[in-house]
Amino acid sequence: MSISRRTLLRNTAALGAFAGAGFPHVWIKNADLAHATGGEIKVGVLFSLTGTTAIIEESLNKATLLAIEEINAAGGIKGSKIVPIVEDPASDPATFSEKARKLVVGDKCVSVFGSYTSASRKAVLPVFERQNNLYWYPTLYEGRECSKNVIYTGAVPNQQQDEFVPWLINKFGKKFYLIGSNYIYPKEENNYCKKLLEKHGGEVAAEEYVPLGHSEFSSVINKIRATQPNVIFSTVVGDSVVALHRQYRAAGLDPEKMPMASLTTSENEVAAMGGDAAAGHFTSAPYFMVYKSPENEKFVEAYKKRWGADKVTHFVSEACYFQVHLFRQAVEKLATSDLTPPNIRDAVKGQETIAPQGKVRIEPENLHTWLWPKIAQAKSNGQFEILVEAKDWLKPVPYAAYPGQVCTDKGLVVEKS
Ligand code: ACM
Repeated sequence: MSISRRTLLRNTAALGAFAGAGFPHVWIKNADLAHATGGEIKVGVLFSLTGTTAIIEESLNKATLLAIEEINAAGGIKGSKIVPIVEDPASDPATFSEKARKLVVGDKCVSVFGSYTSASRKAVLPVFERQNNLYWYPTLYEGRECSKNVIYTGAVPNQQQDEFVPWLINKFGKKFYLIGSNYIYPKEENNYCKKLLEKHGGEVAAEEYVPLGHSEFSSVINKIRATQPNVIFSTVVGDSVVALHRQYRAAGLDPEKMPMASLTTSENEVAAMGGDAAAGHFTSAPYFMVYKSPENEKFVEAYKKRWGADKVTHFVSEACYFQVHLFRQAVEKLATSDLTPPNIRDAVKGQETIAPQGKVRIEPENLHTWLWPKIAQAKSNGQFEILVEAKDWLKPVPYAAYPGQVCTDKGLVVEKS
């Protein structure tokens, strides 16, 4: 086989970019991955280990590292070990941006797994778009984003609310009190909720936002008493979830008559607040720790073995876990010299894996994930009871609240009306 000098130079440069200084001048395009990467594939792990969202992000860090360790223990990816570079962005969007830049530009990671809040995702987005790198975002979020530099593995509003809102109206009544933390995610989620309320004959009793990290809910609870809604629809995040539930209970409100219906309260926040404060309230999500599947049994057992028998898994840590396995599958598809973030993105389009929640798939059109919606009620033992399970996986529609706008592989298409 002959190979031109130009091809040889191009391939050597491509390989060198990943191998760093001292890489032997291997010019065979399909040299084995371990050889070409120096036996290492560097990825960033960017979850807050301190600050107001550490309550949840610390568990996302753990689930990500667990998946990486599992892959490495099984021999890595075609012989190359995944090397996680962990940074603590301290629940601060500006620090997220600074650390993301360090991971992408300084450490030359080929992907970064990170973020809980949409505020932090928005803060890192320009880094990934400018560097044409890849951010793997595991959290439920508001949609209305269409980036070729993000793989979104958490639920978007249609996947958490389409079934949940009419179910709540049917079971408890039509008057909803919308309470959220004050940033983009709760506002967009509530925008979608209001459209569903209108469609299904519901109404908004009040809409209120509290600062991130807010812990004093007495005035909110007084307003709830005064307005007497049927449902308190909560998109409060972080430590505030714990404060809200505890103060609701201390105020003597009754979940049987006026439950909280949350898109953000998982087993993790329930563990922090105590099962009694959570009992009776509802969450809609694609995954709950009690879900019965062989893949979930394995995930829960491995997580507890690695991080402690008292630890819980939840719908964001599950996405952290399966998205690392999707990363592995994508890299496995690539030839050695093709190990670049844009190529990893192309390889992950349409990838499927049997996740703990069921089979998931990256939608090639918009890089979001097909998921399995579920509705569950919190119990005093800290776990949920699943009451409703979707019969089929649900397509992600990130612009569901914006008719005429569609995220496609060519970018956002706005249809003329
Ligand atoms: C969120 O900010 N996406 C929970």
